[in-house]
Amino acid sequence: MATETLKFPDGFKWGSATSAHQVEGGNYNDWSSQCRDCSRVEPKFRKPCIPCAGKACDSYNRYEEDFDIAQKLNHNIHRFSIEWSRIEPEEGKFDEKEMEHYKRLIDALRERGIEPMVTLWHFTNPVWFAEKGGWLNHKAPEYFTRYVKYVVDNFHDRHSMSVMPKLWITFNEAASVWAGFSYLNGQWPPQHKNIFKYIKVRKNFIKAQALAYREIKKVYKDTSHNVAVGLVESNVYSAQGNRWYEKTIGKFYNYQRNLYFWDKALPYYDFLGLNYYHVDRRVPGNYRVLPKQGWMPEMNWEIYPEGICHVLKDLSKFKKPIYITENGIADGTDKLRDKFIKEHLRWIWQAIQDGVDVRGYLYWSLLDNFEWAHGFAPKFGLVEIDYATLERKIRPSAYEYARICETNSMIYDL
Ligand code: FCB
Repeated sequence: MATETLKFPDGFKWGSATSAHQVEGGNYNDWSSQCRDCSRVEPKFRKPCIPCAGKACDSYNRYEEDFDIAQKLNHNIHRFSIEWSRIEPEEGKFDEKEMEHYKRLIDALRERGIEPMVTLWHFTNPVWFAEKGGWLNHKAPEYFTRYVKYVVDNFHDRHSMSVMPKLWITFNEAASVWAGFSYLNGQWPPQHKNIFKYIKVRKNFIKAQALAYREIKKVYKDTSHNVAVGLVESNVYSAQGNRWYEKTIGKFYNYQRNLYFWDKALPYYDFLGLNYYHVDRRVPGNYRVLPKQGWMPEMNWEIYPEGICHVLKDLSKFKKPIYITENGIADGTDKLRDKFIKEHLRWIWQAIQDGVDVRGYLYWSLLDNFEWAHGFAPKFGLVEIDYATLERKIRPSAYEYARICETNSMIYDL
């Protein structure tokens, strides 16, 4: 079979991502306070049931073991999130011990030659915040910014410059995913179904982005530290129809689903974090244009690697660097993962050739973990977790990916 070696730009970052509630275990937040054991709920009441993360992967205690694995797999960047409910368990009361924990975690990454990418909010909120109305409260942006200020101040004051994180992310998929699941279709806490609330929550995120961004920049302004603040959104490949009215619907839908937050918050972030997984078929007439593609059975998602190239090109209009902050497949068999990664990388490489400024690729996820409403069934990990023993086992595809990380290039079968 003919092959081609695809070389990535010098300094391109390679790694993987996780989030606090999905891997840490033992969190007390708006998700865990409303969750229940869905397997024991009568089927008719099961939906929408919020499953519990429980001890998850116990990464709160085992992060060194996890980072040893990431190092062994040649990763040079790792994205994780700080759990707001640990840092500020009660309103205005900050927990220094938890702050120390995250500092140790960052040190542990640095010691292994891995650059930390720190997400400040990844879907979960402190219970006190949720009780005040959460993201519907007009003061939500201020509450969030107070927490952000505490975190960045702490790194600024006590850490030597070399260990301060440079890559920050404010929000993960706040407008594109979380607002929809939590305020439109009622699957995630607080399980509302109200379009006006959905609109309000999305607006509040934009305000919070502006406030938090300014705060982070203020704290770091007297340093030559080059802190970059990113905003992560999920983009789908929105398959379009080709009749005029289908195109009009398609344009509107694509903006609301994919571009809204980045567009509205444009002055208040330095780079885009793109999470890309699948095709979306909501726009009428799309099958006429794009036939049915491959399937990810564990999530019921339609896979379309070429779509990431189109999405990236579309995003280049924002004229900011882009990191692929998530891309991955749930595949407990590990038969599809290697191909999935390589096909997507092939199209990311193409986008780079076509002039898009992509700086890194972070596979979702380093570990099998708690997949929100799906519980523990989907297996996204490069590393398999035995949830009974919490033993970590590296999957074969992880070693394939490790070769790409090591060589900054990929041998692609044509
Ligand atoms: C994204 C989330 C991430 C994970 C993946 C599969 O939407 O950011 O936490 O659940 O999907």
